[in-house]
Amino acid sequence: MAITYPHQHLLGIEGLSPAEITLLLDLAESYIALNRRADKKKDLLRGRTLINMFFESSTRTRTSFELAGKRLGADVINMSTSSSSIKKGETLIDTALTLNAMRPDVLVVRHPDSGAVRLLANHVACAIINGGDGSHEHPTQALLDALVIRRHRGRLDGLLVAICGDIMHSRVARSNIHLLTTMGARVRLVAPPTLLPAAIARMGVEVHHDMRSGLEGCDIVMMLRLQTERMQGAFVPSGREYFHFYGLTYDKLAKAKPDALIMHPGPMNRGVEIDSAVADDITRSVILEQVELGVAVRQACLEVLARNLPSLQHNQ
Ligand code: NCD
Repeated sequence: MAITYPHQHLLGIEGLSPAEITLLLDLAESYIALNRRADKKKDLLRGRTLINMFFESSTRTRTSFELAGKRLGADVINMSTSSSSIKKGETLIDTALTLNAMRPDVLVVRHPDSGAVRLLANHVACAIINGGDGSHEHPTQALLDALVIRRHRGRLDGLLVAICGDIMHSRVARSNIHLLTTMGARVRLVAPPTLLPAAIARMGVEVHHDMRSGLEGCDIVMMLRLQTERMQGAFVPSGREYFHFYGLTYDKLAKAKPDALIMHPGPMNRGVEIDSAVADDITRSVILEQVELGVAVRQACLEVLARNLPSLQHNQ
């Protein structure tokens, strides 16, 4: 198969074409079966080095990239802020230049500031994958969400997807809006006015402030975590009140299509944005499948970026 992903990095979904997104999803599809086998190893990235540079906490994304890299045969190093020289006052760029001097092939970067990953990409020679920057983008999350939806519904175009909750602080929402609208899905955002950026309707989405009207007729219900660590001051009166109006319960879910899928990128706040029983409903919730397919998506991203690296034979 001729693989053509024409970019050095994966910094966001914005700007990717439908063909590039489809290429990544198709390739990820082939990794799902591999990951279900006892022997999950390939040596496509043998000789390559992947550094996970996480300046923000993470369970799923970091582990997922680590597994993806190792299953493709790369050497994987994990670096976190608590153990890095950032604590000693080193700037982000200096840390990046230091790591770059050790000649990694791919850097996966998560950073609390929107735009930090792109800034870093301007200073290093290796390929960069954005593992989430502030409230800007989280491209591999949107790709894995799309892969889960496509496997269940066979397509993305024409579907009605409700993204509900703390849109304001969510890079997952932004990347998903770009991906879903690019692929021809309709996106509805459901949130209190305090958790919606004023200009969001310009992204080609419908806006609802009421869960029942927002979920009406939806194929997919994507819940978001209330990201209190990004809030300065209170954006909602209380967790209990938020749950009452915006928490996903069976009662509100009844407005969506009877077979609507329930999604959440994790980590979940049970009883805040989602009722525990709904989250655990194995007939509707695909939350753990999102985690599983996340590894396959990251393998696909690593594969396409590695194909654009200078070939190992030519390295002296
Ligand atoms: C998300 C993130 O970090 O942006 N989580 C994830 O990557 N699975 C969402 C969140 O933190 O709420």
